[in-house]
Amino acid sequence: MDHFEIRNGEMFAENVPLATIAAEVGTPVYVYSHSTLQRHAQVFRDALSALPRKHLAFAVKSNPNLSVLSVLRDEGYGADVVSEGEMKRALAAGIPASDIVFSGVGKSRRELAAALDAGIGQFNIESEEEGVELAEIARDKGGHAVATLRVNPDVDAGTHAKISTGKAENKFGVAYHDAAEIYARLSACEGLNLRGLAVHIGSQISDLAPSRAAFEKMGELMRQLRSAGHSVTHMDLGGGLGVPYRLGETLPGPDDYGAMVAEVTRDWDATIMFEPGRVITGNSGVLITEVIRVKPGVSAPFVVVDAAMNDLARPSLYDAWHDFLAVRPRGEMMEAHIVGPICESSDTFAKNRTIDVVEAGDLAVFRTAGAYGATMANTYNSRALVPEVMVKGDKWAVVADRIEPETIFAAERLPDWLS
Ligand code: LLP
Repeated sequence: MDHFEIRNGEMFAENVPLATIAAEVGTPVYVYSHSTLQRHAQVFRDALSALPRKHLAFAVKSNPNLSVLSVLRDEGYGADVVSEGEMKRALAAGIPASDIVFSGVGKSRRELAAALDAGIGQFNIESEEEGVELAEIARDKGGHAVATLRVNPDVDAGTHAKISTGKAENKFGVAYHDAAEIYARLSACEGLNLRGLAVHIGSQISDLAPSRAAFEKMGELMRQLRSAGHSVTHMDLGGGLGVPYRLGETLPGPDDYGAMVAEVTRDWDATIMFEPGRVITGNSGVLITEVIRVKPGVSAPFVVVDAAMNDLARPSLYDAWHDFLAVRPRGEMMEAHIVGPICESSDTFAKNRTIDVVEAGDLAVFRTAGAYGATMANTYNSRALVPEVMVKGDKWAVVADRIEPETIFAAERLPDWLS
C-alpha cells in the first residue's frame, strides 16, 4: 500500500496534490511519501517479529537521499553501504557506525581503512584476498575488524540477469565449495573477528523458492563450520525481496518472506541480518513528468515526456516496467510509446502501452520510482540532475535540489594550453 492516490480527479502524495509540487519545483521531479516509507519499514520489521535476534540494515544504494535515510534511522534501521560515499551519507544521517554493514565486491584499501576509522559494525567480505587485506589494515591500526564472509550459493534468483548475483558465474562472494576452507583460514587471521556468513542472490526476486534454497544452503554451511569448531553468531541474508511494479500485481510480500525465513532459520541460534532496499523504498516514490508533445508513430503515437533515461534508467537498462499514470486522468485510454527527449532509441519507457489519454502539457507519473530511481540519475545530454521532494501529510519540501548544467560544468577546467 502507498499514499499516492487519485482524489477529486487528481493524484495526491499524501495530502499534497502532485500538480502543486510540479508547479513550484518544475518537472521532472521525484516525490517520496514519508508515511509510505515509514509503513514499509514497519511492515518489513513486523514480518520478522518471530526471529529472536535480528538486525535490519537499509540498503542505501536503493535510495541514498539524506531525508530518506533519516526516516529509516528513526525506524531503527542501520545501513548497508557499498562505498565510502554511502557510508558518509549514512553517518551524516545519524545512523550509528555500529549499525552499518559494509558490503561490496571492490572495497578499496582506502575504503576499508576509512570504514575501520569510522568504527562500522561489520564488513561483509567477498574474497579471501579482501579478508587478508582487511585484517592487515586493522592490525596496523592496532584493532580488529568484525566481518562475515559472503558466499555465492550458486542459486538462480530468477530475476533479470543484470541484477542477479547468486549464480556461480557472478562476481559476488566466494564459491560455496571453497567457503569452509576460506572461513577456517580467515578465522585464524589476527585482526579479523569473523563472526558469520552473508548471502545475497539478487534483486526484485518475485519467487521465494530460490531465496529459501540459498538460505538452506547457508544453514548447512553454518552447521558444518560450527562442527569444525568455528564460531558463527551472525547470518546476513541480504536484501532482494521484489515489489509489485504493476497495479494489481501480487508478489510474495514481507509476511510470506518473514514466515519462510522464520521456518528456515528456526534452529540457527544466530542473529539474522537483513539488507532490504527496494521493498522499503520502491513504492514510496514516483517520478513526475510533463508531456512535451504527442507525435504520430507507426504502430502508435509517441508520447514525448520531459523525463528521460538519465532521470530514470531502469527501463532502458533492464527493460523494467514502471506504470505511467496521468496526474489528472480523463477516464479514457490510448495506446502509445512513451519516450524521453534523449537522442538515442534506448530512451524509451514503454512501447505499445495502454495508458491514460494525455496531451501536451499534461502531468503524469512513473510509479514505483523510489528505489534505484534518483540514485541512478545522471546528466547525459547535459540535462539537469533531477530534484527530489518529500511529502509528509500536508507538508512537503525539496530534499535534493535540481542541479543545473551550469553548476555541473562549473567543475570543468580549460587547461591554459587550450584557452
Ligand atoms: N544487499 C546487497 C549485497 C545488494 O547487492 C543489494 C542490491 C541489496 C542488499 C538490496 O537489494 P534490494 O532489497 O533492493 O533488492 N539497480 C537495480 C538493482 C540493483 C541491486 C543491487 N544490489 C534495479 O534498478 O533494479
